[in-house]
Amino acid sequence: MNTASPRHALVTGATGGIGRAICFALIEQARRDGAPIHLSAAASRPGERLERLVEEIRTAGAAASGVSGDITDPAQCASLVTQAHAQGGDLTALVCNAGASGPGRLADLPVAQWDLTFNLNTRSAWLLAQAAREQLARTRGSITAVASMSGLTPHPGYGAYSAAKAALIMLCRHLAQEWAADGIRVNTVCPGMVRTPLTEAVYQDDATLRQREALVPLGRVGRPEDVGAAVAYLASAGASYVTGHNLVVDGGISDHMLSMIPGRPGKPAVMEAL
Ligand SMILES: NC(=O)c1ccc[n+]([C@@H]2O[C@H](COP(=O)([O-])OP(=O)(O)OC[C@H]3O[C@@H](n4cnc5c(N)ncnc54)[C@H](OP(=O)(O)O)[C@@H]3O)[C@@H](O)[C@H]2O)c1
Repeated sequence: MNTASPRHALVTGATGGIGRAICFALIEQARRDGAPIHLSAAASRPGERLERLVEEIRTAGAAASGVSGDITDPAQCASLVTQAHAQGGDLTALVCNAGASGPGRLADLPVAQWDLTFNLNTRSAWLLAQAAREQLARTRGSITAVASMSGLTPHPGYGAYSAAKAALIMLCRHLAQEWAADGIRVNTVCPGMVRTPLTEAVYQDDATLRQREALVPLGRVGRPEDVGAAVAYLASAGASYVTGHNLVVDGGISDHMLSMIPGRPGKPAVMEAL
């Protein structure tokens, strides 16, 4: 059985918008459970941003260490897990959150950009999981990866990102099957539109913000905390029978397309008599 909340979580992309929210959602969950937690907050490189985050986590009452490495490099994926283990012992949760999208039409996308997109968003999760497998088997821990609604539905202009996130979802379903016997649960979360440093430029324009909000059935753009809460749930004992699942956190937008078709009929004639 998993412990009530993770005792030691490694969160990649921790200094970013969603990663930071994941760290604080895990801390809040541990606080509610009355359990100690050690956060290994990972960034691509050491520096002031990471140090500040570690201090904030400690101020919030959790143990914390900063670890760093470029996850597009296989050796640095392994090193992140080694650094985390040296600071906090066996991992009980791995959160593969770091990632990035870049626009590019498939017609003329450079091979290097395709490779970088897959190495960052997909291959890194497999390599981090491989490096953490023995520890997670000992703790009967969990892996949660942050994919995207772009991995569920085509995202024109972002073909490599969309394919990489789709592959990430399937990778995690495979890991869930292959590692269930070790007691390791593996799930994904698919955020919709979330306002973070990655997407902030778009939301600076009020008109675009309002247009985006109008597309979301729940009437607003997502907050990093919405995703943090979903990840904390999947890493908790409350999800101890959940594996190979993809939890969509998008305010309903992924399912909304058919309601946007113009000229939809009202009540079908055949129903009028009822
Ligand atoms: N925001 C959205 O609307 C949205 C929607 C769907 C899915 N997502 C996904 O959610 C995740 C988090 O995104 P976010 O919006 O929070 O973006 P963000 O604020 O830009 O954070 C992304 C983080 O990824 C890290 N990262 C990037 N390249 C890296 C590398 N080569 N090695 C190690 N770390 C690297 C960055 O760390 P450093 O700063 O240390 O470089 C950064 O902190 C991503 O996987 C993204 O694809 C976001």
